[in-house]
Amino acid sequence: MAGVSVQAFRRQGRRFGAGLVCSEMVSCAGLSHGNERTLGYLRIAADEHPLAVQIFGSEPEVMAEAARMVEDAGADLVDINFGCPVRKVTKTGAGATLLDEPDRACRIVAAVAEAVDVPISVKMRRGLEKGSRQCLAIGPKLVEAGAATLTLHPRSARQMYTGEADHSLTAELVELVDVPVVASGDIVSLAKAQSVLATTGAEAVMVGRAAQGNPWALRQIMGVDEEPSREEVAAELILFIRETARELGEHRATGFLKKFYGWYLGRGRFPRPFKQELTQLASLAEVEQRLLAAAPGARFVLERLEDDLPQGDEILLDLPISVYGGG
Ligand SMILES: Cc1cc2nc3c(=O)[nH]c(=O)nc-3n(C[C@H](O)[C@H](O)[C@H](O)COP(=O)(O)O)c2cc1C
Repeated sequence: MAGVSVQAFRRQGRRFGAGLVCSEMVSCAGLSHGNERTLGYLRIAADEHPLAVQIFGSEPEVMAEAARMVEDAGADLVDINFGCPVRKVTKTGAGATLLDEPDRACRIVAAVAEAVDVPISVKMRRGLEKGSRQCLAIGPKLVEAGAATLTLHPRSARQMYTGEADHSLTAELVELVDVPVVASGDIVSLAKAQSVLATTGAEAVMVGRAAQGNPWALRQIMGVDEEPSREEVAAELILFIRETARELGEHRATGFLKKFYGWYLGRGRFPRPFKQELTQLASLAEVEQRLLAAAPGARFVLERLEDDLPQGDEILLDLPISVYGGG
């Protein structure tokens, strides 16, 4: 998820049971131009695997070049974005627009599949307009072109995130292709995951927004239904803050993290004004202190968490926050 799936988020997802995690979408043009910030997206930690890195773009050769760079960086899978509905992306002919350009979309998949040895997956929406069934027309062609799996978020691009994901389309897609299909959209609980898997025949579910500031949702979907204590929540948030600050630098991380405070501290876990208070604090060190004051036992949980983390070389990179946002 653009603006969300930083490395700290992905590592946390893996710790909480996700079988595969995915990067933010990465501009193939940015990679191909050697844009330093875009290259920063290719920083992969040892404990993220298996990891998919998602690329977006509209030119088959440039996408192929980007895919090679992604493979060289150590990704286990190259994912292609045919779902982003955001105008900044669609106006360049990338993202969801490609659903209406099957020939170009297939040329992109074929070029990427030819360029790398790791498997290729495609993430798509149902189509551009409300009620569109274009994913069913294009899905089998993408498989023929070389996609080893398809992920469907069955909302139209126009819908953005309104209404519901219509997983009856996922079921239809499963019938049409002989590769695994991953169901994305509104997977928020074990019950929902089970019902989508049972009614669609999908091989896997993808969890997006439900895991934002709530890795416990992943644990719940994996069958362990334990509400976290306030100490655990505070400790996970502090760890997330520390890792994100290392990844993005203090300045960028300060703005980036604000939305996460509400995600972590909501759900009745902390009083409402507390989140507001955190967003007003000038430094991340103060945020951390305030969290520890509100949940003193978090200190011990945090120590345990940090002890358990694998120690890799920690490179301070000035990584970008994606300005795009969506798929
Ligand atoms: C903030 C945000 C950023 C997203 N960025 C991407 C992206 O970069 N690539 C992508 O394929 N999907 C992206 N998505 C879509 C999600 O992958 C997912 O398909 C969608 O949110 C529906 O699943 P959910 O209900 O579990 O969130 C994004 C969604 C959100 C909310």
